[in-house]
Amino acid sequence: MAITYHDIKPWGRSLNEYVRMFNLTPADLERKIIGCGDGPASFNAELTEQGGNIISVDPVYFFSADQIRQRIYETYNDIIDQTRKNQDKFIWQEIGSVEELGRIRMSAMEKFLEDFSGGVMQKRYIPGELPLMPFSDKEFDLALCSHLLFLYTDNLSLEFHLKSIEELCRVSNEVRIFPLLNVNADRSSYVEPIIDFLRARNRDVKEIKVAYEFQKGGNTMLRIC
Ligand SMILES: C[S@@+](CC[C@H](N)C(=O)[O-])C[C@H]1O[C@@H](n2cnc3c(N)ncnc32)[C@H](O)[C@@H]1O
Repeated sequence: MAITYHDIKPWGRSLNEYVRMFNLTPADLERKIIGCGDGPASFNAELTEQGGNIISVDPVYFFSADQIRQRIYETYNDIIDQTRKNQDKFIWQEIGSVEELGRIRMSAMEKFLEDFSGGVMQKRYIPGELPLMPFSDKEFDLALCSHLLFLYTDNLSLEFHLKSIEELCRVSNEVRIFPLLNVNADRSSYVEPIIDFLRARNRDVKEIKVAYEFQKGGNTMLRIC
């Protein structure tokens, strides 16, 4: 495990947000899904509750529920302050204010925390990290990666991105990644080189508009089959 407790800055989204970020249809939600980098999102908890088949992988799952809870409370104010400083990079329509954003994220993370210990026993939360996934070839129908690849363009190399996307394609028939922006809400400089790389390997790659936009201009996902 390369990640340390102080590296964690937990921040998690809900099933409703995943549905809109990835254009998930009712049929998609019945597929065997891997959520890569789901962290403290409530996606797994909520989808499992409605009968879905989902496994989440994240280095945060090396830690216990109590440690993750403690870290959520330690870092919450910093994340909120940071968001307040960067308010102009977001669209405050559906989520009206930084305070409301905080309440929505906290509610999703509380749902995750309630579910986490049981989910670990059911092997729905697996500790692990890209660029390697602890699964066999094509074990999943659909891989989702929210707010990890492209977002951290400044910290994660192009090589890391290429290896990670190839790994997701190895374990899953289809891969969807959202957003295609970096943390400054600019289009990641990796998007075009990655599309070219994948097309050169005969992968079917499409940038698709989605029904979600919170970071300004962040309303497309990459779909790779
Ligand atoms: C900004 S959070 C997004 C959480 C969730 N996907 C969501 O959208 O609400 C990024 C997540 O990526 C995880 N992460 C960081 N490095 C990773 C890696 N190499 N492989 C998989 N997950 C990673 C972090 O632990 C964190 O939970």
